[in-house]
Amino acid sequence: MSLRDALRIRGSEITAEAVHRDRRRLLAALAATPALGLAGCADAEPPPPSAAPVSAAQARAGFRTDEEPTRYEDITTYNNFYEFGTGKSDPSRAAKTLRTSPWHVAVGGECAKPGRVALNDLLRGLAQEERIYRLRCVEGWSMVIPWLGVPLAAVLRRFEPNANAKFVAFTTLADREQMPGIRFRSIRWPYREGLRIDEAMHPLAFLATGLYGKPLPQQNGAPLRLVVPWKYGFKSIKSIVAIDFVERMPPTAWNQLQPSEYGFFSNVNPEVNHPRWSQKTERRIAGTGNKLIANRIATRPFNGYAEQVASLYSGMDLRRWY
Ligand code: MTE
Repeated sequence: MSLRDALRIRGSEITAEAVHRDRRRLLAALAATPALGLAGCADAEPPPPSAAPVSAAQARAGFRTDEEPTRYEDITTYNNFYEFGTGKSDPSRAAKTLRTSPWHVAVGGECAKPGRVALNDLLRGLAQEERIYRLRCVEGWSMVIPWLGVPLAAVLRRFEPNANAKFVAFTTLADREQMPGIRFRSIRWPYREGLRIDEAMHPLAFLATGLYGKPLPQQNGAPLRLVVPWKYGFKSIKSIVAIDFVERMPPTAWNQLQPSEYGFFSNVNPEVNHPRWSQKTERRIAGTGNKLIANRIATRPFNGYAEQVASLYSGMDLRRWY
């Protein structure tokens, strides 16, 4: 933890910080952690997200919430992106080396139209939408983030997945030159994630290209990252370079690292504690002035999106399939 972070963490947050350290220790046990001593820099605060009131239809769909959005500065300086270090402030400093243009995504597997597509072509003709979603990290903190992007289903359909496409696998770039964190063996790089096909096609599943009306900063997963608001944040894979339609449940980064702690589904569930900490509450990151404060609030099943997504899991024992 940097001195800057130490100054920002209040006493009431020490327990949660210990949780984070615990997760870091898991990685450190597998590899030495690099010390990234670069100078910090935060982007200027952009305008607030569109001030239009949340319509009943948007609220029903879960597309927007009227909860206070987390400050841009906090969203872009308090990150998890282990390819750039394991500290919360490492990515905002170190990810400036990530080249996001040109960017291609290779789409393959069980589909009629596989191909390696330039990002512009992947998104061509799709209207950008703003979604204001809660993001709940498995470590016990949360934010409210105004994303810009497109529904994941609209992109996937372009490749015409076939009946064998039971799951969708996502892969992050893994480039030693641009990503200092992957020189160290911790996560089995590249970072991978996956969804069942019906989860991927759900209207809430989103591909973000921006936040607060601006292009996505590198530390938040530029130029293209997944956002699955009813699942723990680690499912929302960043800087995607490959999407594969597959028949079997694909391997995923945190599950490979510690299967007893991080499942494939990883739906937010206050009733299923992490083996080493409770998931009943979360710290909602909410800045005022230049201080990072956090209010402790109750965690909701499916991160508050149960009405929209619980039916995807009917008949499944969510204690077993965590
Ligand atoms: N994607 C990649 N490639 N590498 C990562 O380390 N961290 C995940 C997820 N996506 C991660 C990733 C975790 S643990 C969380 S909580 C979210 O990104 C954090 O997203 P944010 O930094 O934009 O808040």
